This record gives sequence, structure tokens and C-alpha cells, in this order.
Amino acid sequence: MTSFHTLYDAAPDGTWAAPGRVNLIGEHTDYNDGFVLPIALPHTTVVQARRREDQVLRLFSSKGGDDAPVVLRVDELAPGSVKGWAGYPAAVVWALREAGHPVSGADLHIDSTVPTGAGLSSSAALECAVAAAYNDLHGLGLTPAELALTAQRAENRFVGVPCGIMDQMASMCCREGHALLLDSRDLTMRQVPFDLGRAGLSLLVADTRVKHDLADGAYARLRAGCEEAAAALGLPALRELAPARLPEALDRLPDRLRPLVRHVVTEQTRVEQAVALLETGDLDGLGPILTAGHASLRDDFGTSCPETDLAVEAAVAAGALGARMTGGGFGGSVIALVRTEAAETVAAAVGQAFARAGYTLPRTFTALPSPGAHRAPTTAG
Ligand code: GLA
Repeated sequence: MTSFHTLYDAAPDGTWAAPGRVNLIGEHTDYNDGFVLPIALPHTTVVQARRREDQVLRLFSSKGGDDAPVVLRVDELAPGSVKGWAGYPAAVVWALREAGHPVSGADLHIDSTVPTGAGLSSSAALECAVAAAYNDLHGLGLTPAELALTAQRAENRFVGVPCGIMDQMASMCCREGHALLLDSRDLTMRQVPFDLGRAGLSLLVADTRVKHDLADGAYARLRAGCEEAAAALGLPALRELAPARLPEALDRLPDRLRPLVRHVVTEQTRVEQAVALLETGDLDGLGPILTAGHASLRDDFGTSCPETDLAVEAAVAAGALGARMTGGGFGGSVIALVRTEAAETVAAAVGQAFARAGYTLPRTFTALPSPGAHRAPTTAG
């Protein structure tokens, strides 16, 4: 692999890592001001960075397909001006400058183990690693939540994806051994212990290999539908709709908006139930909540697809305590809560179901709740 030194003929000032995530429950609730409950994955994006005093931004990704870095100027960055993977780091630098931090250029070397296009937040991991690097290189003193907001603004305004705040907050703020209960309305957080090992459980992740692309407009349409429903109900966001008022609210809405509202309100309750179970250590009880969350995404929100539905069905039929698609949807990954001794059987059953259906075989792995973005030791090279 091309090293930092080979590319830039100098050593990096430091190395920063930020993880991908899976969301346990609370899907499509963040942009409705609701709760989410993600964990960080052990897979990270690692950025080696060297500060420059001029305006030149050189970006190299080991997965970018080029031998040479992309060369940009930070004072010429404008929304939409940088396409492909380089748009994400460029977006973060742009967003920092937009927020009044007159940061200069840098030489960056990017490497990642977060699967891309798998609904595991590879974009947020990249943004957050770059944000953490710039924060330290320029002594900006921004908090993890402020860096997450900067990364979200970068993605919303520079890349043009209207994502919520969950992925960036998960990548910045998750803690090892914990799930992050985040209130998207005011970004208050609680680290909820999630000790899978003690419960004899594992979290299986199956990447269905169906390319999910949030930029394709479907996500934006769902988000707009939720906002339209909230406005029709006279609420600032669907988060404010109490479950007891759901039937009456549904009566006041057109047919096309009802399922969206039903999902958001019931999902909010599922997050609360999941947190209560985690807090009492009843992790088995989480299974049915996951499966109910999937049914809601499939039947009401419409973000599942045949492959994610099949993965969930096959996992549950093979003994998983529960399973659901995770992330934005339209493909991507499924999580399944399994007894550790059954993890291989469940993974094999999902693979066999895919083979029978003629689908590309899924990639499966188990994941423990891992740390959020951090400065990492710099290795030689
Ligand atoms: C994507 C977005 C998040 C969130 C999820 C759905 O991952 O980036 O903000 O909305 O979809 O829960």
C-alpha cells in the first residue's frame, strides 16, 4: 500500500480513526427529532494527516483507485465542486471554514476497513476522522458533538445528502461496551452499557451487498413526507406526537402520510423499550423489538427490500432472537441478535437463503460495541 511518506515525502503529524456504526433501533427517527440507539463498529476509517500552512489540500485514499493524491485548494471549495470519495473530506474542511475557522490545507492519507455502500456509515466515518484530525491540527477545541454537527453540515450542504445527525454522532461519541442513546432534538446523550459477552450473545451483521444510495432521492422524499406530516399536525417534528394521540393524528392525515407517522411514533416507543431492557440487563428481550422494528420499516416506512427481508426472515428462522435492517435502508445491512454459539449457524442460514434466491452472497461478521473517533498511534511508513 502507498504510504504517507512515499506520497508526501514527509511524516504525518498524527493519525486519527473514526468508526462506522450499526443502529440497534431508532431508524429514521433522527430527522424527526427522536431517539436513536447506535453502537460504533470495530471497523474504522484511519486518516494520517500533516498540516500545511498554504491552501493546498492533498487527499489520497488507498481505496480511491489512483496512485496520486487528489489536489484541491481549500479557498476554492464550493458545494458540489468535488465528486466521489474526495468530496467528503473536502466537505469537512469547507464546513469548518464556513463556521468561521480559517483552517489551511493539509496532506491526508486515508485508509478504511468500513465497508462502503453497506449502510454502515462509511461516509460519516470518513468525515469524522477528518474533522477530528483538523480539530487537533489546528487546536480548534471543538467538542465531539460540535465536530459531528460540522460533519453533518458538510454532508448536507457540500455533498448534498440530507442526512440526519445519527451517523456522525455515533462515529464521534460512541463508547466501547455501550450503546449511545441520543436525543436528536437537543443532542443529549446517555451511554447505555451493552455487554453482549456477559449475556452470551453476539450481534451478527450481514451486509446484503445491495447497494444503498441515500443520494438517490428516496431518503429525501421520506424526510420531506415526515416534515409535511408534522406541519399538517401543527407540530415542530413528529417526535412531539405522543403515542396516545397517534390514532387521532392518523385520522387527520392523508393516506400516503399515515404509515410514515405510524413508523416514527412506534419506533420511538421501541427505542424506549430497548433502553429499559439494556438497563435491566435483559438483552434477550431486545430480540422481538428488533424484529418488530423491521416489520415497521418494511410495512409502514417502506425502506426494506427483498434482500433485507429475506436476511431477517432467515436469521429468525435459524434461531436469532431478533433481526432488522439497520441504517437508511434500500439494501445495506441487517443486524441479528444471536446466542454466541448459534452465530455461525445463523450466518450460514442467511447465506443459504441468499444462494437459494439467487442473490449475491452476503458478507457477515460479528461486532462488539467499539470506541468513537480518537487519535491513534502513528505507525511507521
Ligand atoms: C442514514 C442517515 C441517518 C439516519 C438513518 C436512518 O443513515 O444518515 O441520519 O436518518 O439513515 O435512521
